[in-house]
Amino acid sequence: MAFRLLVTAGDGIGPEVTREAVAVLQAVFSHADKSLEVTERRIGGVAIDTDGTPLPQETLDAALASDAVLLGAVGGSKWNALPPDTRPEAGLLQLRAALGGFANLRPAFSIAELAANSPLKLEIVSGADILFVRELLGGLYFGAPREWNRQTGEAWNTMRYTREEIARVARIAFDLAQKRRKKVTSVDKANVLEVSQLWRATVTEVAKEYPDVTLEHQLVDSMAMLIMTAPRSYDVVLTENLFGDILSDESAVITGSLGMLPSATIGGKVNLYEPIHGSAPDIAGKGLANPLGAILTGALVLRLSANMEAEAAAIQAAVRKVLEMGFRTPDLVRGDATGFTVLTTTEMGAKVRAMLHL
Ligand code: IPM
Ligand code: MG
Repeated sequence: MAFRLLVTAGDGIGPEVTREAVAVLQAVFSHADKSLEVTERRIGGVAIDTDGTPLPQETLDAALASDAVLLGAVGGSKWNALPPDTRPEAGLLQLRAALGGFANLRPAFSIAELAANSPLKLEIVSGADILFVRELLGGLYFGAPREWNRQTGEAWNTMRYTREEIARVARIAFDLAQKRRKKVTSVDKANVLEVSQLWRATVTEVAKEYPDVTLEHQLVDSMAMLIMTAPRSYDVVLTENLFGDILSDESAVITGSLGMLPSATIGGKVNLYEPIHGSAPDIAGKGLANPLGAILTGALVLRLSANMEAEAAAIQAAVRKVLEMGFRTPDLVRGDATGFTVLTTTEMGAKVRAMLHL
């Protein structure tokens, strides 16, 4: 039976980078003599413009009927004036909710070949390998009530979690830590927020099921600093929704570019895969976008949804090889660094395919 991949490329650089990821996946499937069925549907701003809604029903139906969903990016200044519930981003949040995946895995890692691209010192970043487990269906993003009352000039959102919502994502973090360096750092703001106190108490409770894993708690403000000063101290970092959104972008500094980082959302009916970067409308359509985050996201599709671990590892190795050979997209060349060959988005995709040893 064919593996059914739904591609929701979205806005800005989304179509350019997902095209390269799909081309790599196609190469992998055809080499493995397996069949890949790719369907494309609209989401985000492009769907608002064409269908009048950021998540058309046919996109949702196709997503629920697929084996995995690969998303590019959503949003752009064109839709900035819209209220939150009709914006491109709302389409993504509705899709996340419908698919039901509550654990968003975001690896942030240092790659030797790219370490010089990080604004952090080499001795600080080299060897850093953090896996963020970001809760994706709760907290301020989904909590009710939420409103902007234009009459009174007040607005409010609700950070709400239940013990069950915290426990299920915590278990994913501990399970993953068992296969890594056996440490979970749970992030909260328990010195101020009740919801964080519940978070801390629940995570502490869940930790008892995992005596082989060390648990530590960090407050989000000091964690924002610690990730930059000592990124190597962290293994699995467990966060609620908004804290994880912020800290994972911050951690892109470790890798050297936001364009490098993949993500996978698991735990629901269908896994959702997205590079963590945004739609970058300023560089869209110019061949400047880095497709490696999307390509590495494709590797996660293979690993977590297609049971093709060897092929996932081959993609990761190909990406490293290409970097080792000095090929870069513009975001991976800092300042006046020399000695690199700067490629366009499609050239970079082609290089990765050429370096794939399956
Ligand atoms: C991300 C993005 C999204 C989020 C936006 C586009 C809704 O920033 O995936 O990190 O905040 O989750
Ligand atoms: Mg984000």
